[in-house]
Amino acid sequence: MALDSPAPATALSTLDLVKSYGAVDVLHDINITMRQGEFLVLVGPSGCGKSTLLNCIAGLEEITSGTLSIAGRDVTNEPPRDRDIAMVFQSYALYPTMSVRENIGFGMKIRGVPKAQAQAKIQEVAQLLQIDHLLDRKPSQLSGGQRQRVAMGRALVRDPKLFLFDEPLSNLDAKLRVEMRAEIKRLHRTTGASIVYVTHDQIEAMTLASRIVVLKGGYVQQIGTPAEIYDTPANTFVADFMGSPPMNLCPGTVAGGALHLGDDRIDLGDLAARLPANVIAGIRPEHLSRSETPDLSVTPIMIENTGSECYVQFELAGKTLTAKLPGRLDEESMAPIGLAFDRSRMTFFDTETDARIEV
Ligand SMILES: Nc1ncnc2c1ncn2[C@@H]1O[C@H](COP(=O)(O)OP(=O)(O)OP(=O)(O)O)[C@@H](O)[C@H]1O
Ligand SMILES: [Mg+2]
Repeated sequence: MALDSPAPATALSTLDLVKSYGAVDVLHDINITMRQGEFLVLVGPSGCGKSTLLNCIAGLEEITSGTLSIAGRDVTNEPPRDRDIAMVFQSYALYPTMSVRENIGFGMKIRGVPKAQAQAKIQEVAQLLQIDHLLDRKPSQLSGGQRQRVAMGRALVRDPKLFLFDEPLSNLDAKLRVEMRAEIKRLHRTTGASIVYVTHDQIEAMTLASRIVVLKGGYVQQIGTPAEIYDTPANTFVADFMGSPPMNLCPGTVAGGALHLGDDRIDLGDLAARLPANVIAGIRPEHLSRSETPDLSVTPIMIENTGSECYVQFELAGKTLTAKLPGRLDEESMAPIGLAFDRSRMTFFDTETDARIEV
C-alpha cells in the first residue's frame, strides 16, 4: 500500500455494544467495524437480534452499554435525527393519506429541498424501483411488494452517511426479488454508499455483501467476506447456517492416517497428523462427486432432481448427509453410488468447542 494513501474512513463502529431488555441480554459485546462504502449483511436465525442491532444503530433503541460511532463520530447519545442515517424497516409504515410521490418526497419537503430538484429525484428513484407508473396512487391501492418498494424509495432519495435496510425485499415475489437484488447491487456500485442490510436470504447475503456478520442468540459468530464465511466457517453453526443444502457435518475419529466415520474409512494422508483424535468432519454437498475410484460406496435414501443437478441423501455414521451431483438420477433407483471426497475442501471442527480447526 502506498504510504500516502489515507486509512479508509469508518462508516460504522460498535465497541462492546450490549442491549438488554430488563434482565434479558439480546445483544452481547458486539464489535463491528465497517469501512465507508462497505455493504455489510447481517444474517442469523429469527430472534437472534438483527433488527435490534439495526434499531440500536439508528438510535431507535437505546443501547445498554458500549459505544457506537457513525462516520467517525460517537453518536451513542445522539437522537436518531442527528445520526444521518436512512432506514427501511422490516415492518414499514407509509403515510396512508399521501400519494406514493408524496410519501417518497416527504423527507425532502421537510428538509426544504427545492421542488424541481425533489421531483427529479423522486422520478429517478421511482424508475429504479419500477414504481414510476404508481406515483399518484395511495398506499392502500398498492400490493405488498409495491408498498415495500415505496418504503425503499423514501430511503433512496436521501444521501445519508449510512443506509439501514431490514429485509427490504421480503415481500417481493421471486422474480422481482432477483431484479431488485441486482438493482441494489448496482446502486451500491455506482454510489459507493455504506449499507447495513438484514436478510434471511442466503443468496442475497452471498451476492450483495462486502462482508457478512453471522449472529446467533445475540452473539457474533463470524465476520468475513462471503467467500471466507463459506469456505472457512468459524464454527459448526456458521457451517450449517450458510449454504443450501448445508455443509455435511459428521463426528469421526482420526487414526492411522485416516478419518473413521462409523464403519467407513477415508484416507487423509498428511492431513491426519495435523488433526486431533476426535473431530467433526465437514464437507459441502458439492465437494462430493461420483467417482470410478470412490472413497465410499453409499446407498441413497432419497434422490431429488432439481433439473440441472441432483441431491442424493445417504446415511453415514448415524447422520443423514447430502451429495450435490451434476445431471439427473433415477429417483426410484436406490442403487449404491461411489463417492469421492475432495480432501482439499474438507473442514474439521473441535468436538468440544465446535470451532474450526486450522490445518
Ligand atoms: N421490546 C422488547 N422487549 C423484550 N424483548 C424484545 C423486545 N424486542 C425484541 N425482543 C427480543 O429480542 C430478540 C431479538 O429480536 P429481533 O427482533 O432483533 O430479532 P431478529 O433477528 O430481527 O429476528 P427476525 O429474523 O425474526 O426478524 C428476540 O428474542 C425478541 O423476542
Ligand atoms: Mg428482524
